[in-house]
Order: sequence, then structure tokens, then C-alpha cells
Amino acid sequence: MPPIPKNAVGARFTGWGRALPPKVLTNHDLEAMVETSDQWIRERTGIERRHVGGTTAGLSIQSGRLALAMANVDPLDIDALVLATTTPDRTVPATSATVQLGLGLKCGAFDVNAACSGFVYATVVAHGLIAMGSRKVLLIGTDTLSRVTDWDDRNTAVLFADGSGAAVLEATDGPGQLLAWDLDSDGSAEELLFCDIGGTIFMEGREVFRRAVRIMVDSAEKSMAVAGVGADDIALIVPHQANIRIISAACDRLGIPMARAAVCISETGNTSSASIPLALFDAADGGRVSPGDLVLLVGFGAGMTAASAVIRWGN
Ligand code: COA
Repeated sequence: MPPIPKNAVGARFTGWGRALPPKVLTNHDLEAMVETSDQWIRERTGIERRHVGGTTAGLSIQSGRLALAMANVDPLDIDALVLATTTPDRTVPATSATVQLGLGLKCGAFDVNAACSGFVYATVVAHGLIAMGSRKVLLIGTDTLSRVTDWDDRNTAVLFADGSGAAVLEATDGPGQLLAWDLDSDGSAEELLFCDIGGTIFMEGREVFRRAVRIMVDSAEKSMAVAGVGADDIALIVPHQANIRIISAACDRLGIPMARAAVCISETGNTSSASIPLALFDAADGGRVSPGDLVLLVGFGAGMTAASAVIRWGN
């Protein structure tokens, strides 16, 4: 992707929030549903439990409200709502319309579907809106994959779950947080991972795994090259939480130690568009990022999409 124009208006995250449905499904619960074991799921995926339930709009309203409160921003001052989701509540209208009403926003609202890369896609789009004159954008990544999971299919039932993460992005007079970004997709891989309307997710897990590592590394390297930074400069990598072995293989190839990775997959499973904001804001709330730190977001998903961004963490 081209470098960000030097005179583009920059933006920073000024507040964030996370939401997980209260119902928890453990690996032991899954043992009673499909032929699997807690040990297999932990060892092959890194997942121990996941949250399921709720709607995409409901979870988005929860996380969005927390983000607005933390940023101390009046809902009426939000200029645009961007909702990353691959599991809208309805085909029409966009789920962002329901969220806009629920949060009391008076602004344009739209959904972005880039599967598990959704939050990084939406982050880039939100920065673009600020560059075009918006001052405050609410950015949310939410998925309720439990509604499109075949609970009799052990290939997918052990992986997918529900959650939401939100951020307020505000224009800044000084330098913005986004140093570089990359968005990719490869429609020829559509049949490896898809969900028909009204259906459940089909996935060729082994092939998705193989490609995921490669496309995450490719995308992250492109963003780091444009930002002019190397692996040693990255204080925190926030990868899509699909499988701990994918995260570990990607970090290994990028030369970033796992100690510098934000990982919450053991508690959340794969929440698609919510996975990167859940991991990022969990790390931020845990004090793992300091002002000035470089943070690398990198996701991959159906489509097959890949996306990355290098961010300089603000105050
Ligand atoms: N419980 C127990 N055994 C299982 C199982 C489960 N849930 N799922 C598969 N197995 C078995 C297989 O049948 C196979 O048995 P066999 O050796 O007797 O044939 C064995 O475990 C290994 O299967 P394999 O498919 O090679 O496992 P894997 O190590 O590739 O792990 C995934 C499977 C799905 C966890 C892994 O491929 C993966 O994470 N892929 C990427 C998925 C992903 O990221 N999707 C989201 C994209 S956004």
C-alpha cells in the first residue's frame, strides 16, 4: 500500500470498550457435544473456553457505550459509525443502523465485512474518514459466530465464539497514530472458508492454517516496510486470535517473540471481527502498551483477506 500522505489529518484512539456474552462454553462442555477432548482443543488451538450468545447489535451497543464513556464523547458528536462484522443480525438493513439507534448517534453508519480482518479494515476506513474531514468516528468489531456454527461439526465448533470490541477514533492536531497499513484479499480462496446465507460455516482447516501464516506475515511485512520499522521496533503485535499455533508460527517468521504478542484466545476463542480489538484493548487495560510504543495489528480471514497496520500508541 502507498505511504500515508504527510499532510493527511491524523487520528488517535481516545477510548475503548469490550463486551463478551455472559454464557461461557468450556472445552469440557464441548466434550459432551462432539467427539473431542479438552486436551486436543488446548494443544491444537490454545482455546480453553469461549463466550456465546447475544446479538451483533446488542454486543456492539455494549462495547460502543464503554468506548464513548472512556473517551468522554457525547454520542451526538460522533460523525460516523463503522461496524466490522461478518455476522450481521439481518441481511438488510446493516446492523450498524440498529447500533446507531441504540447508542443515540446521529450520523452515517455502515457495516464492513472483511471476515476476521474486519477490525483492521475498519480501522483503515475510519482513519480515511478522518482524513476526509470527520472529527470523531466510532469503530466497532463484533461477531456472533455461534449463530452460524454447526455445533455437530468438531472441525469448527471448537473454534468459533462471540464478542465485541469498540474504539473512539478522534482527529488530532499533532501526528496521528497510523504509520502504515496494508489490505489484501484473494477471492480465489473463497471455497476454503465460507458460510452461505442461512447456513453454517464450512472450513478446510489445514489449508486455511497453511495460508493464514503466509498471508499474515506478508501483510505485516508490507506495513512494517512502509512504516520503516523492523521486528525489534514492535512493542506489541496483536494478531487475529484464530489458533495459538498460527499466532506462534507467524510471530516466529516475523522475528517477534511470543512474549510481545497480545493473546486472549484461551478465554475468547475465535471471535472474528472482535478478536483484534478484544486482544488489543485487553493488553491496553493490562498496561502492556505505553505512549510511543509501536503496535502491529495483523489479521486474516475468509475471502481470503489479510490486513495489517502499524500504530504508534498515544497517551
Ligand atoms: N477434536 C479431536 N480431534 C480432532 C478435532 C477435534 N475438534 N478436529 C480434528 N481432529 C482430528 C482429525 O480428525 C485428525 O485425526 P486423524 O489424524 O485421525 O485423521 C487429527 O485431529 C488432526 O487433524 P487436522 O485437521 O490435521 O488438525 P489440525 O492440527 O490442522 O487442527 C484446526 C485443526 C482446525 C484446529 C487447524 O487446522 C486450524 O486452526 N486451522 C485454521 C482455522 C482457522 O484459523 N479458521 C478461521 C480463519 S479466520
